[in-house]
Amino acid sequence: MSVLRATCAAIQSIHPGTQARLAPGVGAALTAADPAALAAALRGIPRPASVAVGDVRLELADAPSVAGVLNGQVALVTGAASGLGLGVAKGLLAAGASVVFTDVDADGLAAVATALACPERVHTARCDVTDETSVAAAFDAALARFGRLDGIACCAGVAPAFPLADFPLAKWKLGLEINLTGYFLCGREAVRILGAQGRGGWMVLLSSKSGLEPSKNNSVYNATKAGELHLARGWALELGGQGIRVNCIAPGNVFKGSKIWNETYIAEAAKKKGIRPDEVIPYYINLTSLKRDILPDDIANAAVFLASDAARCVTGQVLVVDSGQVWTR
Ligand SMILES: NC(=O)c1ccc[n+]([C@@H]2O[C@H](COP(=O)([O-])OP(=O)(O)OC[C@H]3O[C@@H](n4cnc5c(N)ncnc54)[C@H](O)[C@@H]3O)[C@@H](O)[C@H]2O)c1
Repeated sequence: MSVLRATCAAIQSIHPGTQARLAPGVGAALTAADPAALAAALRGIPRPASVAVGDVRLELADAPSVAGVLNGQVALVTGAASGLGLGVAKGLLAAGASVVFTDVDADGLAAVATALACPERVHTARCDVTDETSVAAAFDAALARFGRLDGIACCAGVAPAFPLADFPLAKWKLGLEINLTGYFLCGREAVRILGAQGRGGWMVLLSSKSGLEPSKNNSVYNATKAGELHLARGWALELGGQGIRVNCIAPGNVFKGSKIWNETYIAEAAKKKGIRPDEVIPYYINLTSLKRDILPDDIANAAVFLASDAARCVTGQVLVVDSGQVWTR
C-alpha cells in the first residue's frame, strides 16, 4: 500500500470521518516515520491541523457539513461526465456527499465542474476504467483531495448493438472491457481502500433491466449487465464481514442526457421495432406499466438510498427502476 493510502487509513482509524487534503506546502505538522507511528502519535491527543509522513503532508479538517443523508461521506463515481453517471454523482452531491466525478472524457468533466461550481465538495479525475493504472490513480486522487472514501458508484458503460451475425469482435471486447473489467477494477481498488480504513462502505453497480431480461441485438450488453448483477452478489457475500454493502440498480430506458441513446442507437432501435425514429422514445415509455419517462434523478434517488444508512441491512440486491417494465427480479 502506498504511503498516501496507509496514512489516510491511519488517520481514519483514530479520527474517523476526518477529511484530509494533500498539501505539499503545509507548515508545522505532526510528523511520523510511518503510518503506524502516525496512528500511535495521534492517539490520545486532539486532532492536529496537519500531519506529515515522509513526503506525504496532509491537512486535516472536518468534512463540510451539508444537510442530507450522505453528509460527510466521500463517493467516487465512474462515467460521471454524462447521462446516468452524471445524474447519480449529482444526486450523491445533493445528498451531502463530497464526490469525485471520474470519466474518460476530460472535457466533459471540466464542463461538469464549471457548471456545478462547488469546489469544496466536487473533485474531478480523468479515469479510463479499463486501465488499472488509471483506475488506481483516480482513487489516489480521491484520497489526495478528501483523505477518505465511503463508497463508489460504477456507471461508465457502453452498449454497442449489432445483430449476432454481424457483431464485430472489437465491439464485443470493448463492451466486456468497459462494462465488466471496468466494474471489476473499480470494485477491487475501492475494497483495498475501504478495507484499510476498516469502517465498512458501499458500492452501487449500475446494471440495467437488460441484465434481467435480454434485449435483441444486444449480445455484449446483455451478457455484461447480467454479469454485473452476479459480480455484486458475489462481492456482497465476500465483503459483508467488512461491513461493505454491494448493490445494483437496474434502470429501464433512460433517454434524458444519455449518450448511449444517440441518433444512431435510436435509428437502430427504430429499425428493430419497425417504427420511425421519432416514435422510439414514446414506444419505450408506453411499454412501462406506469407510462412514465424514467429520468436520471430517479436513478440517483435509488443510488442515494442504497448508499445511505437507510439501506444498512440491504446488500446483494437489485433495485429495479424501470417504471414497471420487467417482471424478473
Ligand atoms: N440510458 C439508459 O437507458 C440506461 C439504462 C440502463 C442502464 N444504463 C447504464 O447506465 C450507465 C451509463 O449509461 P448512459 O446511458 O448514461 O451512457 P452515456 O454514454 O451517456 O454515459 C456513459 C459515460 O461513460 C463514459 N465512459 C465510456 N467509456 C469509459 C471508460 N473506458 N472509462 C471511463 N468512462 C467511460 C463516457 O465518456 C460517458 O460519459 C451504463 O452503465 C449503462 O449500462 C443506461
